[in-house]
Amino acid sequence: MSDVLKKLTREMEKVQEPKRFVHTQGVEYTAAALAMRYGEDVERAQVAGLLHDCAKCMGNDKLLSACEKHHIPVTDVERRNPYLLHAKVGSYLAKKEYKVEDPEILSAILYHTTGHPNMTLLEKIIFTADYIE
Ligand SMILES: [Fe+2]
Ligand SMILES: [Fe+2]
Repeated sequence: MSDVLKKLTREMEKVQEPKRFVHTQGVEYTAAALAMRYGEDVERAQVAGLLHDCAKCMGNDKLLSACEKHHIPVTDVERRNPYLLHAKVGSYLAKKEYKVEDPEILSAILYHTTGHPNMTLLEKIIFTADYIE
C-alpha cells in the first residue's frame, strides 16, 4: 500500500466511527475492484473511496456552518436535507485538509450521493461502490 493510502487510512480511522470506517474500507476495496475491471487507475479509485465520506461525521449544523464559512453554495433541497452536504463539504476537505489535487477525485467525492448526467468513469465507480457497500 502506498504512503498516501496509509496516511489517509489512518486519518479516516481517527475521524470516523468504527461502523463508518468499515463502510469506508469497503468502498475503497470495491472501488479498487471496479477500477481493475474497467481500466481506471486503482490508487486514484482507492483515494476517492477512502475520502468519499470524510465529512460524514459532521452533524447538520456543522455542515451548514462549514458551507457558510467556506462560501460553498447551499441549495434549498440541501438546506432541508443538510446530510446531502457531506458530499460538497467532503470534496472541499479532501482538497484543503487531505491535500488531494486531482480534480477527478474531488468531483467523484462531490457527486457520490447524487450522481449527474454524463459521469466520468471514476465518478461512476465511486457512486456504484458506495451503493454496493
Ligand atoms: Fe456518502
Ligand atoms: Fe458512503
